Amino acid sequence: MPLPIAELHLHIEGTLEPELAFELAARNGVALPYADTDALREAYRFADLQSFLDLYYALMAVLRTERDFEDLANAYLARAAAQGVRHAEIFFDPQAHLARGVGMETVVEGLWRALGSSVQNHGVSTRLILCFLRDESAESALATLDAATPYLDRITGIGLDSAEVGHPPAKFREVYGKAAALGLRRVAHAGEEGPPEYITEALDVLGVERIDHGLRCAEDPELVERLVRERIPLTLCPLSNVRLRTVDTLADHPLPALLDAGLLCTVNSDDPAYFGGYAGDNLDAVRDTLGLSDERLRELARNSFLASFLEDDEELRAR
Ligand code: HPA
Ligand code: ZN
Repeated sequence: MPLPIAELHLHIEGTLEPELAFELAARNGVALPYADTDALREAYRFADLQSFLDLYYALMAVLRTERDFEDLANAYLARAAAQGVRHAEIFFDPQAHLARGVGMETVVEGLWRALGSSVQNHGVSTRLILCFLRDESAESALATLDAATPYLDRITGIGLDSAEVGHPPAKFREVYGKAAALGLRRVAHAGEEGPPEYITEALDVLGVERIDHGLRCAEDPELVERLVRERIPLTLCPLSNVRLRTVDTLADHPLPALLDAGLLCTVNSDDPAYFGGYAGDNLDAVRDTLGLSDERLRELARNSFLASFLEDDEELRAR
């Protein structure tokens, strides 16, 4: 039996496996520039975040209808459940779809067809987190929040993703302020490729409750102390960090040091179809390569529920 965990850092578009990409391409009459799934998998060699994002956005071309988003989410939920995930807080990137002429309604309603029955069908409770693309303008983020207003009963929070360097959190001060006033929870990617200062800015300017990745906090002992003191969770993604070369090898990952420092770390999969593993695979990898004890693994599992947006009573039931 895998350890029951909550997954808190998961881009639903990053769960698009090559087989499903080809199936949806055929269904929608979309031509893919790869001969077959093996040829597509061959392209999964990334030099950095941007080289991944280029393929991640390009493959979204196959996602066109509500049914596509429903199938994508159901495929993820089934795989996640098999690896011990009992609760998933799921990012989606509406701007990447709106730019292709796929509306907010198609995306949210399609995802909801799977998420709305996920407890019954998969034994996984869910939350939806709308991410803004930080390499798009602040005005575009504001327009996206406006477009999401009719669906806020289905959206728990907002996040910030895509190309980090050169797009500091403060660029999104206004939209985070508006989202807070609407009662939305706030998270942001920070300190993946960007400097530790972006983590501080996400906390101080955007008021985020969790930091996605946050890996580079390890470079700033005072920041680590602050994150420990304020119990700010980090949603780490070890296999992602290896594939995007944020760390040289998994053996170099700072997870053990961050746990030893007292940080509330969680282990997640980010974009599992591209990075070689779902949540349970990430936990297995850190156990095997970093030598984490069973007690440390239980701590990571406990942290994942503590850091989630589940209410206390729901949290206990999900565990
Ligand atoms: N980092 C930033 N943006 C992203 C990622 C990531 O790992 N995955 C999907 N969008
Ligand atoms: Zn991410």
